[in-house]
Amino acid sequence: MKKILITGANGLLGQKLVHLLTQQPNVELIATARGNNRLPFSEGYTYRSMDITDRQQVLDVINETHPDVVIHGAAMTDVDKCETQKDDCWSQNVHAVEYIVEACKATDAFLVHVSTDFIFDGAEGPYDETAEANPISFYGWSKQAGESVVRHSPVRWAIARTVLVYGIAHDMSRSNIILWVKKSLEDGKNIKVVTDQWRSPTLAEDLAMGCYLIADQEAEGIFNISGKEVITPYEMAIRTADYFSLDKALIAQADASTFTQVARRPPRTGFVLDKARTVLGYDPHSFEEGIAVLASQLNK
Ligand SMILES: NC(=O)c1ccc[n+]([C@@H]2O[C@H](COP(=O)([O-])OP(=O)(O)OC[C@H]3O[C@@H](n4cnc5c(N)ncnc54)[C@H](OP(=O)(O)O)[C@@H]3O)[C@@H](O)[C@H]2O)c1
Repeated sequence: MKKILITGANGLLGQKLVHLLTQQPNVELIATARGNNRLPFSEGYTYRSMDITDRQQVLDVINETHPDVVIHGAAMTDVDKCETQKDDCWSQNVHAVEYIVEACKATDAFLVHVSTDFIFDGAEGPYDETAEANPISFYGWSKQAGESVVRHSPVRWAIARTVLVYGIAHDMSRSNIILWVKKSLEDGKNIKVVTDQWRSPTLAEDLAMGCYLIADQEAEGIFNISGKEVITPYEMAIRTADYFSLDKALIAQADASTFTQVARRPPRTGFVLDKARTVLGYDPHSFEEGIAVLASQLNK
């Protein structure tokens, strides 16, 4: 039996982890998040309220539950908000990691820390695990600093880096590119989508599986855990329209420079997955398969 504690259980990754881990017969799950449990079901796991910016709470909860593995997915993930609310961002994405590391050290837990392609400048993706970080946003900088805390810590650790996660979760206000394109085209709206950014869009279920494979094997080091294609948002929109048989003529090409966003985005990221495939047996869905998974959840 492996006891796994996850942070940010109410988030997109968190919810998928709860679904996946409650189905594993050899896993005892402790789901933590700030405030109340907002998950739609409460069977098969224990819920503990844990604000990751509260050092004492982090130390107490992890010490009392004594997990074998901690999967740390909670973070401040709104890239533009991180640019304007730097103190909050640093507290959630860096100081919180220090508390998690301290608690893992005290309990000898293995740490799986979730990170991002935004630690790179996007000059020459796709990246492998050895590529040099060079963030161009405060969010990216904070996530790189979080990684650094983990890498220089005395705990046994893994870092799971991911890219543009999409999926459907309960009670979430945040949309994703597939739902946005689908809804816009169904409403007959013209949309502009960028052709000069490249990403490996990641089905949230695949990210959860990657984190679980790392946790199960307690595989140490950095792992790229993303989708397997490197495509532009424009290409994602076209494929979404194709999948749902919607009018592609409503989709116009645009340059990222025509959008005003507070934080800069790296132009070309995307990941090379060879290490995760070989070491972990990670095998993500294609983008079309991912749309199908999401579509099946929409119809429920
Ligand atoms: N989404 C992406 O495209 C993407 C891309 C690359 C990397 N990542 C990384 O993947 C991980 C998971 O992201 P996600 O997509 O699941 O994001 P998400 O849906 O925004 O979930 C993040 C969760 O963190 C929680 N959280 C924030 N501050 C907290 C605190 N002080 N105490 C406890 N929980 C707190 C949030 O809680 P509330 O629900 O209460 O706000 C939220 O549920 C993050 O580490 C992110 O940096 C995501």
